[in-house]
Amino acid sequence: MALDLAFTLNGAAWRLSVAPEATLLEVLRERCAITSLKDGCSPQGQCGCCLALIDGRPRMTCVSPARAAQGAHILTLEGLSDSDRDLCARAFAAAAGVQCGFCIPGIALRAKWLLDHQPTPTRAEIARAIDMHLCRCTGYVKIIDAIVLMAAARRGEPVPPPVADGGVGVRLARYQAADLALGTRPYVADLARPGLLHGALVLSPHARARVVAIDVSAAASAAGVVRVATAADVPGRRWYGLLHDDWPGLVAEGEEVRCVGDVVAVVAADDARAARRAAALVRVEYDVLPPVLDPIAALAPDAPQVNPTHPNLLSVSEIRRGDAEAALAKSAHVVSGTWQTQRIEHLFLEPESALAEVRPDGRLRLCSQGQGIFDDRRQVAQFLGLAEDQVIVELVPNGGAFGGKEDMSVQAQTALLAWLTRRPVRITLTREESIRLHPKRHPIRMDYTVGCDAQGRLTAVRARMLGDGGAYASVGGKVLERAAGHACGPYRVPNVDVEARAVYTNNPPSGAMRGFGANQAHFGIEGAIDLLAEKVGLDGWEIRWRNALEVGDTFCTGQVLEKSVGLKKTLLAVKDAYDAARRAGRAVGVACGIKNCGIGNGVAEWGKCRLVVEHDGTVSLYNGYTEMGQGLLTVLTQFAVEVTGLPASIFRPKVDSTYQLACGQTTGSRATLFGGRAVIAAAEKLRRDLEAGAALADLVGRVYAADVVIDDTTALGAPVATIKTHTAFGFATQVCILDASGRVEKMIAAHDVGRVVNPALCEGQVEGSIHMGLGYALTEELPCEHGMPVTFRLRDIGVLRARDMPEIEVILVEDPEPEGPCGAKGVGEIGLVPTAPAVAAALFAFDGVRRYQLPMKDSPAARAMSVGQRRLGS
Ligand code: FES
Ligand code: FES
Repeated sequence: MALDLAFTLNGAAWRLSVAPEATLLEVLRERCAITSLKDGCSPQGQCGCCLALIDGRPRMTCVSPARAAQGAHILTLEGLSDSDRDLCARAFAAAAGVQCGFCIPGIALRAKWLLDHQPTPTRAEIARAIDMHLCRCTGYVKIIDAIVLMAAARRGEPVPPPVADGGVGVRLARYQAADLALGTRPYVADLARPGLLHGALVLSPHARARVVAIDVSAAASAAGVVRVATAADVPGRRWYGLLHDDWPGLVAEGEEVRCVGDVVAVVAADDARAARRAAALVRVEYDVLPPVLDPIAALAPDAPQVNPTHPNLLSVSEIRRGDAEAALAKSAHVVSGTWQTQRIEHLFLEPESALAEVRPDGRLRLCSQGQGIFDDRRQVAQFLGLAEDQVIVELVPNGGAFGGKEDMSVQAQTALLAWLTRRPVRITLTREESIRLHPKRHPIRMDYTVGCDAQGRLTAVRARMLGDGGAYASVGGKVLERAAGHACGPYRVPNVDVEARAVYTNNPPSGAMRGFGANQAHFGIEGAIDLLAEKVGLDGWEIRWRNALEVGDTFCTGQVLEKSVGLKKTLLAVKDAYDAARRAGRAVGVACGIKNCGIGNGVAEWGKCRLVVEHDGTVSLYNGYTEMGQGLLTVLTQFAVEVTGLPASIFRPKVDSTYQLACGQTTGSRATLFGGRAVIAAAEKLRRDLEAGAALADLVGRVYAADVVIDDTTALGAPVATIKTHTAFGFATQVCILDASGRVEKMIAAHDVGRVVNPALCEGQVEGSIHMGLGYALTEELPCEHGMPVTFRLRDIGVLRARDMPEIEVILVEDPEPEGPCGAKGVGEIGLVPTAPAVAAALFAFDGVRRYQLPMKDSPAARAMSVGQRRLGS
């Protein structure tokens, strides 16, 4: 029986009949159109995105039953006074406290409540106050800055206005920062359409089983259900993938499911609850088979083949230079060890969502949050058996991705339901479904043997890496290729013998995640270097200085570095602090990092841009890469401003398939690098017309196009005279300082970013990366049993909360990259590459224990954290 509710929402009286099992979040979002409340984890109540004030108290509405609204006064950001809303928007924009924005409305409302009760909180008090809120992007630093600004403004102190205009080097406020802070810029799950249907997936409960039969009859006749679809309903090719078409969008009867994220059926219904209820009625008969869960076992000759498209050995990447064996035999010191990293969940705050509809002209329109909308278009068109131009894809900038939205998630199934029903359909995953479905960061086992001479100069690196790729290829072969390429870290090594293998198993797929193999490799090589430093009698800084790559040196892959090698500048930038901490008797660790910018390795890459002068005096800035919180649209605007001299406010960045701007995935720290070059090239054409005397109004309708191709890199092992595996590299040195109890007190991060395009966004990338890197080092993991993650609880997964974060000092170093736009190179990934080894080194200085496995939960630094305390897995 329906539940009748009467309540006051943002000052207005409401009367509603709702389903008795509905949550307050569902009522407020779906019945009252309150989009500042986001669903990041319902029904866990652990992310804070759904926060509302109920009778003046902060409440997570996803764990509040609808009946909690009865007679209540409910306040959301929409109901704040204009001056409070304005202050909140200005503070978050001015402080660069917004990245993807998904977490911010909840935090902003919490901040308002905090300041109503405690007008002058300290930073530590603010951190504690927002402890119920998770942010995966910012590292909380600039969120706290924003709340400090809000508090100052309420005391009558001036708040610096957000920077509204400027080119390269300016702290230009993020594009749409105010709307993101207030929750008024929609994500896919916020989009409304008349007659919208809601989809739900039927996922395999088994990591490996044969699907004997699928019976959808009960689901199809359930209340509210419009359509149930299975593999038999797919008009095109069911198998897709970024590099290998090995991933079925729906698994057919007679086939095997290969992981617990496999989709067996999909339901469309009038509302999301009806769709989920019906999905639970789909009866699937499975013949359960023993799963292949261990990558070593997967390589046994009698191991079952996990994926029918490819043997279990997905890829082998090899690098051999010089004679490592002979060099090791002659080395003054040799160390060996096995380093093991863990499976990591991206935990972007916005779960996957897609919306599809068939347009009056018969074409399918897809609203995607994916990291490469042209790859989405190709795969969806293939799935539906359509020509690509029959599918129009529009990016709705997402609430975080970090590599986890490169592969298709629900785009194909959503498009299928829309195609079959001829009605708009949206599928939005729950947090549990999201974790089951998208690829993870690879667990990699790394066996290293590394030698040096008596002065600590590296002589040889031998490494064997084995990565658990899970059920589907994704980009796993490339991740292991990148791990191999970064096996020597940012050091000069004359003799190299590296082999990295990616292996199929029935675990959740592994794929792209921020760092893309470099994180894992650095945990190994930096650990080995610390072992050598101890043998030689050098400190961590000195051995790195002696081996640091410089212009003219050879990188692990054989590429001679000809420009923009700022590693030594980053080492010098931290030296005084490192020495001072050691002199003060503190436990301190240092590590360096290198990360490719651009995929490279022989892959042709593009930057593409169209600048279109519009009738309303704006200039549309189309590009092919994705905004996912990193600030790409802002940075591209700054390049356009820099070249044209036009104000930033007239540029409207857009990502859709209006123009043929396929650039592949937003990956490899390349969007600024290549997208920026294309914007500059297009903007120069516009500038020439302006310099010739044209006013912008004279140019309405003109399209200034630039396609930049980068096709001069060489594949690993290619028989070429000049090896150039990558266009550019970022470099970093990080220092970790522990307090007297072994807790991480401070991280210092010096980064060579080529040229600082936007200091605020650049700092934000590094701060957010360090947050992710500290979690990687100490608390984060996603172990599986029988191929199923053992937990879906956010606190167990171990992403750090605001109170867990140490002080972070970011030092931006400029060593201009000639192939980069205005000298810039990518900074999206490298921020966490050296973090875990720096923490490991500091921990060794603290307690004398060498740690070879992540996360380092046995350490005092991990025990000091508020999350990740449960020991997971068996
Ligand atoms: S959605 Fe309610 S706390 Fe995450
Ligand atoms: S800005 Fe906080 S999750 Fe993205």
